Amino acid sequence: MTHLDFLKKFKRLKPSEPLPGVVGCFCLSIGFISFLFLLDYRAVSRGLSARGQSGFMNWLGFNWLSSGGGGVKRAGFLDGVGVECDIFDGNWVWDESYPLYQSKDCLFLDDGFRCSENGRHDKFYTKWRWQPKDCNLPRFDAKSMLESLRNSRVVFVGDSVGRNQWESLLCMLASVVPDKTSIYEMNGNPITKHTGFLVFKFRDYNCTVEYYRSPFLVMMSRAPAGSPEKVKTILKLDHIDWISRHWIGADVLVFNSGHWWNYEKTIRVGCYFQEGEELKMEMSIESAYQRSIETLMDWIENEVNMSKTQVLFRSYSPVHFRGGDWKTGGSCHLETLPDLGSSMASSETSVLLKIVLEVLSKRSDSSRTRKLDLLNVTYMSSRRKDGHASVYYLGPKSGPASLHRQDCSHWCLPGVPDSWNELLYALFLRRRHAWAVNLTQLSPAPL
Ligand SMILES: *[C@@H]1O[C@H](CO)[C@@H](O)[C@H](O)[C@H]1NC(C)=O
Ligand SMILES: *[C@@H]1O[C@H](CO)[C@@H](O)[C@H](O)[C@H]1NC(C)=O
Ligand SMILES: *[C@@H]1O[C@H](CO)[C@@H](O)[C@H](O)[C@H]1NC(C)=O
Ligand SMILES: *[C@@H]1O[C@H](CO)[C@@H](O)[C@H](O)[C@H]1NC(C)=O
Repeated sequence: MTHLDFLKKFKRLKPSEPLPGVVGCFCLSIGFISFLFLLDYRAVSRGLSARGQSGFMNWLGFNWLSSGGGGVKRAGFLDGVGVECDIFDGNWVWDESYPLYQSKDCLFLDDGFRCSENGRHDKFYTKWRWQPKDCNLPRFDAKSMLESLRNSRVVFVGDSVGRNQWESLLCMLASVVPDKTSIYEMNGNPITKHTGFLVFKFRDYNCTVEYYRSPFLVMMSRAPAGSPEKVKTILKLDHIDWISRHWIGADVLVFNSGHWWNYEKTIRVGCYFQEGEELKMEMSIESAYQRSIETLMDWIENEVNMSKTQVLFRSYSPVHFRGGDWKTGGSCHLETLPDLGSSMASSETSVLLKIVLEVLSKRSDSSRTRKLDLLNVTYMSSRRKDGHASVYYLGPKSGPASLHRQDCSHWCLPGVPDSWNELLYALFLRRRHAWAVNLTQLSPAPL
């Protein structure tokens, strides 16, 4: 595709969805009250089908709300003013046209994310679209994204929530590929392989969408000789994960980390920190996390060609355990609605987010890391206590898990990570747009 084609494409991305405004707000309240009715009703009669729910929502006027109740126009994200728009500031709005795919149609999903198939009855969590306050997002267009990704590599690096997002993107892209056998793992590994890495190729586009498991981003190794007995493994805070050699040359690189940087997953299991040759027995987990992010930034500065590669860091994805954590009976299985007002991030979440932001702002003069995009999903996702797998992560044959063992950190798919990927898509288009504009400026404009 030439840059002219690009420009033409952008012209076509018009603002499509007007602001619901005051009328929308009123309607939302009505809708909310009706929701409570509906939930009551559901308690009496369990067998409401997804189709029945949709009809009911239409009747309530939800469709009207999301597709044109108000009169205020927002700019499109790629229009002049839209480029300045903060796409992470906004709200969740009901949208009948969602979800973007069905889990049963997607071969590339772990059982752990297939909530509906695992017994979750309400489909509400699949129906919310992220609406930025000051502009409209481009509607996700899998064909156009695949076309732009021709001969390219998209690489996700991080923990299992990064995997959650990666599988979401696989499903979003695969939904427009009729011949599913043209999408395959390069080494023949099944999606259920949870160590190392997985590289899925979209044959007709010669493009790969890859996932590298690296929950700490830095190198883990055996305890050095002569260290105290309680030290079982160490994290070398100043060495990037050895698997990083596979990330080099990617066209889009999406990092995340955070969920493993806690006491339970480090010190408690004998995993301590090392810097240089020195074992840091007293180092706090926060300082260690900060060092790991600095090491990542150093690696990006030294190894990544920012003119070729778009680098994003996805911010911490909040968990929603109520009354405990994952192993002390914390729960989220009764949540069926988002917080439509604002909601606060928990303190653990804010600490991890703050550390990343501090490192980024310290590096903000460096010409390379300045171009790194922050996929700032923490706040938007903190309102989605309804979106987690809760007890529906065991696979269709096993039935719901024990109420005392809930998963309130991973997300059901389709669901919240799809919205992160729609934001990823918007930032991807913006970057390509900027490159295309540069090209037209550097060469004489073709007629
Ligand atoms: C992330 O988004 C939230 C919500 O819009 C905003 O309050 C916060 O300032 C953003 N942080 C950064 C670093 O962009
Ligand atoms: C496929 O894409 C890779 C880059 O990911 C490139 O090196 C290779 O030449 C492409 N193959 C074809 C047939 O275009
Ligand atoms: C970086 O990538 C750009 C665009 O692909 C290329 O023109 C340039 O030569 C690369 N720079 C280096 C140092 O490899
Ligand atoms: C556009 O070109 C200018 C000058 O060559 C360069 O400084 C800038 O980084 C480029 N922007 C992008 C997005 O590549």
